[in-house]
Amino acid sequence: MPTTLAGKRIIIGVTGSIAAFKVAGWVSNLIKEEARVAVIMTESACRFVTPLTFAALSGERVYTDLFARQDAEAIPHIQLAREADLLVIAPATAHTIARLAYGLADDLLTCAVLATRAPVLVCPAMNAQMYNHPAVQENVEKLKKIGYQILDPESGRMACKENGAGRLPEWEMAREVILRSLTSPDLAGQKILITAGPTRESLDPARFLSNRSSGKMGYSLARTARRRGAEVTMITGPTALACPPDVKCVRVETAGEMHEAVLARCHQATVIVKAAAVSDFRPAVQFAGKVKKEQAELHLPLEQTQDILKELGHLKEKAGFLLIGFAAESDDHVAAGEKKLKGKNLDLIAINDITSGHTGFEADTNQVTLLDNNGLSQLPLTTKEQTADLIWDHVVTMLVQKDI
Ligand SMILES: Cc1cc2nc3c(=O)[nH]c(=O)nc-3n(C[C@H](O)[C@H](O)[C@H](O)COP(=O)(O)O)c2cc1C
Repeated sequence: MPTTLAGKRIIIGVTGSIAAFKVAGWVSNLIKEEARVAVIMTESACRFVTPLTFAALSGERVYTDLFARQDAEAIPHIQLAREADLLVIAPATAHTIARLAYGLADDLLTCAVLATRAPVLVCPAMNAQMYNHPAVQENVEKLKKIGYQILDPESGRMACKENGAGRLPEWEMAREVILRSLTSPDLAGQKILITAGPTRESLDPARFLSNRSSGKMGYSLARTARRRGAEVTMITGPTALACPPDVKCVRVETAGEMHEAVLARCHQATVIVKAAAVSDFRPAVQFAGKVKKEQAELHLPLEQTQDILKELGHLKEKAGFLLIGFAAESDDHVAAGEKKLKGKNLDLIAINDITSGHTGFEADTNQVTLLDNNGLSQLPLTTKEQTADLIWDHVVTMLVQKDI
């Protein structure tokens, strides 16, 4: 099932780092995605950002004092620990990391961490020298051994005007890791190869043949597979999208380059999803200089590119991967999908009707028909990210049946 942040109880523990202000943005984004957020602040954190800021953003009171309990109230650190779906410590100072590594319980945040059964995500942020100090590194290792997840700090220029690893990552990365912490890792152990985006076939130095693929569907598949625990490599044609966090991205331009990149990696994969819209044709002749407008008449002979999907279909049994294709169709799309499933020896095909404005190329939503040897299933019209998750649900069932 697709994981969303909506309705999730997320406890954010803010500690005394200069990066505390960034977490105000995270809380605001979590609330926008309808998570239920409660904030615990250490005494030092309150010197960087006021509790009022987090109270206004979360819409709840902020917890700062272990002993400030109203008489009839449930004990806050136990109550918060019990109701949490996830406890995130961001930013996590060197001091709090040490307290957590040694199981100290000297304030509300550390007591809540010890009392919870929910997953704990620790997001260190500090000066690079501090972060690389053997004592801090040893404590981070201890947290990993306990089973806490760590959001590694990013490298770059910091508030102290030094460069190095220690910066708190931006929301996009944090969102991904938070969602991963909340998602069952049902694709763990899978090595998934995904192709995405269009290809470009050059005519002259200024012009190329391409198609309307935005890459959104392939990138959503890569992001959600990583979230579900897979090791993901994505081979992508030119798109305007950023590579999803923790996905290995290989950028190519032409169908020929994509063919080479896929064939070089297919033997390591357990699942291959060909979501790229690879050009079927390329100009048979490429002009070294820009073709002039004044040229009276221009005929453009085309030649076919390699059929990557068909080649994978031949290799599939021997190499042992599951092969999933996409079909973008404008007419009689189920019959066309069925022909492609059989003709290219696929395990599953996701068929897009590209004539509707809500589906297919460039749209943020999609409605896909899945077809395998057991028959059809129609997925609902939904976001490409949720469509990707529903495709993975189907793939997980197939992997269990195939015992991969
Ligand atoms: C201006 C300033 C910035 C600081 N930034 C950080 C930081 O980014 N990371 C860190 O580990 N400590 C930082 N410290 C030190 C912590 O605030 C200090 O170790 C404190 O005891 C942490 O308490 P806590 O972990 O209970 O919140 C900073 C201190 C000051 C004065």
